[in-house]
Amino acid sequence: MTDSFDIPLDRLHTDSTKWHVYGPGVLPLWTADMDFRVPEPVIAALRERVEHGVFGYCYEPPELREVIVDRLARLYGWRVEPDAIVFQTGVVAGFQQVCRVVAAPDDGILVQPPVYQPIFGAPRHNGSLHQEAPLAMRPDGRWEIDVDAFEAAVTDRTRVFILCNPHNPVGRVFSRGDLERLAAVCLRHDVLICSDEIHCDLLFDGQRHTPIASLDAEVARRCVTLMAPSKTFNVPGLRCSFAIIPDAALRRRIAGEPSDFSEVNNMGLVATLAAYRDGQAWLDRVLAYLQANRDFVVDYVRRELPGIGVIAPEATYLAWMDCRRSGIAGNAQQFFLDRARVALQDGAWFGTRGEGFVRLNFGCPRSTLAEALGRMRDALL
Ligand SMILES: Cc1ncc(COP(=O)(O)O)c(C=O)c1O
Repeated sequence: MTDSFDIPLDRLHTDSTKWHVYGPGVLPLWTADMDFRVPEPVIAALRERVEHGVFGYCYEPPELREVIVDRLARLYGWRVEPDAIVFQTGVVAGFQQVCRVVAAPDDGILVQPPVYQPIFGAPRHNGSLHQEAPLAMRPDGRWEIDVDAFEAAVTDRTRVFILCNPHNPVGRVFSRGDLERLAAVCLRHDVLICSDEIHCDLLFDGQRHTPIASLDAEVARRCVTLMAPSKTFNVPGLRCSFAIIPDAALRRRIAGEPSDFSEVNNMGLVATLAAYRDGQAWLDRVLAYLQANRDFVVDYVRRELPGIGVIAPEATYLAWMDCRRSGIAGNAQQFFLDRARVALQDGAWFGTRGEGFVRLNFGCPRSTLAEALGRMRDALL
């Protein structure tokens, strides 16, 4: 039976960044959105709102806070006050705001490359000191946190640690033990944790996500957690995310006083409520589809793309591929773009230890994936 996710959609004429940048003829498996229609309840809620035809200033639907609070309790056993939630226009805007407010220009901001470029670049945007505690790659290709190296990277200037969990691009879901060790270091050195958890709903193989702020009240007090429906339900263009800031004083510093109307686009709020309240059946289906796509990619790369290493990601729809022993002369992203007409994300974009890697987005119909991988195989012949 054909799954609706199997049906390729024409996105070339919809102002899609992913499809526009390289144009017709190139299969775009780079930027992180999915080539799937969103859940029907989200489309219906947006349609109803559009049909009303009036788009004045709006405030956040009160039910939305309750839906998020219930969801966090149900999924993670994490109890947050509805007032701890601050709606924002995106996760990148969220961590940039934290850096701006909490760190002075020559304070340090610690990141764990290779990591999503705007996290890597956030300190520089703020003029702050960029500090790194790179992840370490084991001989079997799995990436891990080296907690001793992490602590050694903390200095008396370090103000903020931007965690990315699940981690983009390496696809790891950090364990409770890892998170406890990171949190202990941060508490010891009075470093604020800003935790980007945008990929936390896209987990495979029965993995479970632990919000670092859910470890205990002391950690929560020193945490800003950033979440969004954007990756989960494929609505990043609607620009709606939220920060959870349990400490009221910190919340006021970062978000200012609550205002009478929302900073977030009305459509983003409508979609977020519908997705979280009514989108679970779609999410279950898309996760099964993505997991099968992930297995297809890993199996294909191991069989057909000699010299390229890949580890099955535990989360995200992004596969992190090691091309350093593939024999490709020069940059692998450019090679696959020129020779296979497949656009991947260049590993160098993710900073330290990213060079020689590419990231492939498998949030697309299986047929698109098969075509792209086939072209990559032919390019390597
Ligand atoms: C780890 C991570 N954080 C943030 C974002 C983007 O968030 P937003 O579009 O809400 O700014 C992405 C998008 O790929 C991401 O992978």
